Amino acid sequence: MKKLHRFGVSLDSELLKKFDELIKEKKYTNRSKAIADLIRQEFVKEQWTKGGKIAGAITLVYDHHKRELVDKLMDIQHDFQKAIVSTQHIHLDHDNCLEIIAVRGNSPEIKKLADTLKAMKGVKHSTLSVTAS
Ligand code: NI
Repeated sequence: MKKLHRFGVSLDSELLKKFDELIKEKKYTNRSKAIADLIRQEFVKEQWTKGGKIAGAITLVYDHHKRELVDKLMDIQHDFQKAIVSTQHIHLDHDNCLEIIAVRGNSPEIKKLADTLKAMKGVKHSTLSVTAS
């Protein structure tokens, strides 16, 4: 485990009160973990906007009766095979498939992949969540 450092933070009481309410809502048990997560989030955001290396997951829900869509989604994934670590396919119900695509690479490429998949007709829902790799 990495060495922990303590440091003091000065905040006006109003902001601190709001912060404590927020972290309580988010089920944090202490301020340190909440602050560390906020800092990490900023690093992820910076990596994302700078075009740096990120890792994450794209989720897709789509109609599996649309055969041409299934083929197209597969073609797109082959075009981006360097960015795709793995794909998990779940047969959600009679009509719908859920796909979870683990991705790793530079943010512009990951964004392009996520946007291309999302834009396909028949994709009902799509999300992209990222972290810094
Ligand atoms: Ni399926």
